[in-house]
Amino acid sequence: MTAFVEIPGSVAIVSGAGSGIGRASAHSLAKRGASVVVTDVNGERAESVAGEITAVGGAAIWAQCDVTDGDAIERVRDLALHELGHLEIVMNNVGVLAMGPPETLPFELWQRIIEINLLSVVRSNLVYLPHLLAQGRGHVVNTASASGLLAHGFDRLPYVTTKHAVVGMTESLALYLRPRGIGVTCLCPSGVVTNIVEQITFFGEPATPRSPDHPVVEAEVVGELVADAIETGRFLVLTATEVQDEVVARARDIDAYIDSYTQGDPA
Ligand SMILES: NC(=O)c1ccc[n+]([C@@H]2O[C@H](COP(=O)([O-])OP(=O)(O)OC[C@H]3O[C@@H](n4cnc5c(N)ncnc54)[C@H](O)[C@@H]3O)[C@@H](O)[C@H]2O)c1
Repeated sequence: MTAFVEIPGSVAIVSGAGSGIGRASAHSLAKRGASVVVTDVNGERAESVAGEITAVGGAAIWAQCDVTDGDAIERVRDLALHELGHLEIVMNNVGVLAMGPPETLPFELWQRIIEINLLSVVRSNLVYLPHLLAQGRGHVVNTASASGLLAHGFDRLPYVTTKHAVVGMTESLALYLRPRGIGVTCLCPSGVVTNIVEQITFFGEPATPRSPDHPVVEAEVVGELVADAIETGRFLVLTATEVQDEVVARARDIDAYIDSYTQGDPA
């Protein structure tokens, strides 16, 4: 594997970078010499993260941007090109979840989560890919989740569904974009210490799936893994090696795999 872009001197746009994994990735990229455009629906958070980066000698600007708004994404692209002159790295990182038994989650909630978790990446593709393809150089990072590779989370079905879609889209894009000079990374973290719980909405009685006990990591670890993946041109980034083993076991015999999670327990 080889890099598609050098991080030093590149311009990177990171969405949802006011907190958690996006914030940590913005820091890691800036530390390695990128100029970062920190965006978030929460403008105060974005401004504050850009301030943290510049306070330690990094280069960053910020913009308030809701990833459900295609015009706002276009404004971010134009800001980056106008203020920083070029653009190489795009990290689509926003994701939200709602929890509850599948039959309790309202249709409108599904629509909202599909808008944020999945169609935001589609919007980003429409805004940024023409630019990256024209220059024949770049790197796209899509934040999916281990929930995009494994489907334990029946208590968060729109999340599992949209993250699976992001994994599929990202893999397909890698096949298209790599021969055209653009690297693609699919970030599939397991548990990460962030503020994600802040925006969870809950429905119905809690229904807790059996799920494997994978290690939880700090967001800073994930930020470094993202920067490493860009430096090496790597596609898949996991934060728990156990996920890889489980993907293999599931692929080998999916019926046996499902049985292993359901036998003897209706939950
Ligand atoms: N934390 C985990 O355990 C974990 C595990 C796997 C995957 N992920 C994924 O990592 C990504 C980042 O999550 P995090 O854990 O860092 O969460 P976080 O809540 O700490 O950060 C997410 C940021 O996104 C912003 N945001 C929310 N809606 C937005 C919108 N419509 N437009 C723009 N910004 C918006 C929030 O303001 C927040 O600053 C998500 O895609 C999430 O699904 C997280």
